[in-house]
Amino acid sequence: MKISEEKKRLFKVLLPYVIELMLGSLFIAIMMIYYYQFSLKNQLKGFLLQRYYEYLAFISFSEKIFLTLQYQKITMLNQKMGILTKQMMSDTQNFEDLVAWDDKVRERYSIGYNKPNFLIQSSLELQDFCKSRLLCGNDQVCLNKYTVFPLQFNYMNDQVQYEKAQYSTYQYPLSVGWQNLTTSQKEYVIKMDLNRIFIQTLVINSSPEDVILPSLIYSVKEQDGIFYQIFSMNFLTLFPQINNQDYGGPFKCDLVNGKYQQYKYTNVNQFSGFQYQDAFGVPCGNATNQCTECSYYNQKRIFPFEWRCRPWYLNSKDQFFVSFGQPYINLNPTTVGQTITFKVVLPNENIKSIQEEYSYKQDAVVATDIDLNPILDRYKQNENVNIEYSYLISTNPSSNSTQYSPLVIAHPLMNLVSKPYMMLNLLTLKIENKSSINLLIRHPFQMTPQQFTQIVLIK
Ligand SMILES: *[C@@H]1O[C@H](CO)[C@@H](O)[C@H](O)[C@H]1NC(C)=O
Ligand SMILES: *[C@@H]1O[C@H](CO)[C@@H](O)[C@H](O)[C@H]1NC(C)=O
Ligand SMILES: *[C@@H]1O[C@H](CO)[C@@H](O)[C@H](O)[C@H]1NC(C)=O
Ligand SMILES: *[C@@H]1O[C@H](CO)[C@@H](O)[C@H](O)[C@H]1NC(C)=O
Repeated sequence: MKISEEKKRLFKVLLPYVIELMLGSLFIAIMMIYYYQFSLKNQLKGFLLQRYYEYLAFISFSEKIFLTLQYQKITMLNQKMGILTKQMMSDTQNFEDLVAWDDKVRERYSIGYNKPNFLIQSSLELQDFCKSRLLCGNDQVCLNKYTVFPLQFNYMNDQVQYEKAQYSTYQYPLSVGWQNLTTSQKEYVIKMDLNRIFIQTLVINSSPEDVILPSLIYSVKEQDGIFYQIFSMNFLTLFPQINNQDYGGPFKCDLVNGKYQQYKYTNVNQFSGFQYQDAFGVPCGNATNQCTECSYYNQKRIFPFEWRCRPWYLNSKDQFFVSFGQPYINLNPTTVGQTITFKVVLPNENIKSIQEEYSYKQDAVVATDIDLNPILDRYKQNENVNIEYSYLISTNPSSNSTQYSPLVIAHPLMNLVSKPYMMLNLLTLKIENKSSINLLIRHPFQMTPQQFTQIVLIK
């Protein structure tokens, strides 16, 4: 094919224009990518991120509601027992009117006494505590798990634990046995035992979804230090300070010559009585320089612990009814726990308002220990820590303190960051794991009144 001269000329003339046009279009196309597509991409990214943050905010909000409800549930248990205790302690609730058994005999208190009127055991005697173990027969599994305290919380499928769970435990600082209590002290403990009926119902009706469960439910009376606890517990076997030969041990649920071992002392006048020592036997004073940490340490007592000197008891002094302690670590087995208390103040003509009750001294304290390990496990499920994760911190429980020193309660890296796993304050956590320093804190939620804050972190 031959191209005519005319066409060739035309081509020569138009070519620069065509090239210009092509370059121009290319330039515009590139501009388009930069100006439009890039910004579109960024907008889209921003949009997605925004949505993602909203999604995280929603997730943490749901989590906050879930935990709040869980805390409310356990608080209700503690509150019910607190209010009932207050009722039972007040003068209007007369023993004679309350007790249903005909003879009103206060002595037939356990299975060892014919036709017991109620079931209560001393924390420093083995007889009633160990009795139900005989039902195990030769079943080794049953024998081995007999003393595991929390099994009583799920007694529905276990006859032996069911029997054990029928008892409540008491302890009196000055002596061991029931016979040494005064009539009014016996009446107090019997009245307290009314709590068992209601509290056990709440305990066995907990749901499998619950992440906050009680681990101990108990109360202490100010006047004489009487300790009352739902379920069977024995202090002789539990506390190494006294589970030894010096105190008549070792204490186990095994019969020795047909009898259970007995605590060496029946009252405080028979020995030094842990006077001027703290709960762990550490001297805190003497007759001239008395213990200042807690005045009850200056008195003789049958058992090293004085419940009126425990931190949860002392802290409930300047509080309204219900208060939450800071989480603590329980060693062996390692668990993270927390104590909820209810301050009982008896009706008093000087108390005109709730504000006045705040400053009054406690007549008793009802406490529920809770196990936070299920929450810990919940936060560990959150495994892809490179993208984002949640963790739970507790805030400063003191209302008049401006210092904010949060404790990490549950964190997915909890056992990576520290060994053995324990609670850290936020600062330690960040310093220990340098790669976590750049974490961006988003969506902090103040959880009043439970004093919990949940934070979602994004790298
Ligand atoms: C308590 O009772 C026992 C008898 O079991 C007795 O030996 C002891 O002295 C009593 N203690 C007091 C303080 O009365
Ligand atoms: C009591 O304790 C103080 C201070 O710890 C000490 O100086 C004093 O000697 C002690 N008194 C007696 C009688 O042991
Ligand atoms: C709270 O304030 C009272 C009165 O000012 C003070 O005595 C108390 O120590 C404070 N508590 C804490 C934990 O700071
Ligand atoms: C710090 O955190 C990262 C995950 O963000 C983890 O892989 C690493 O093991 C941690 N370092 C230490 C010392 O725990």
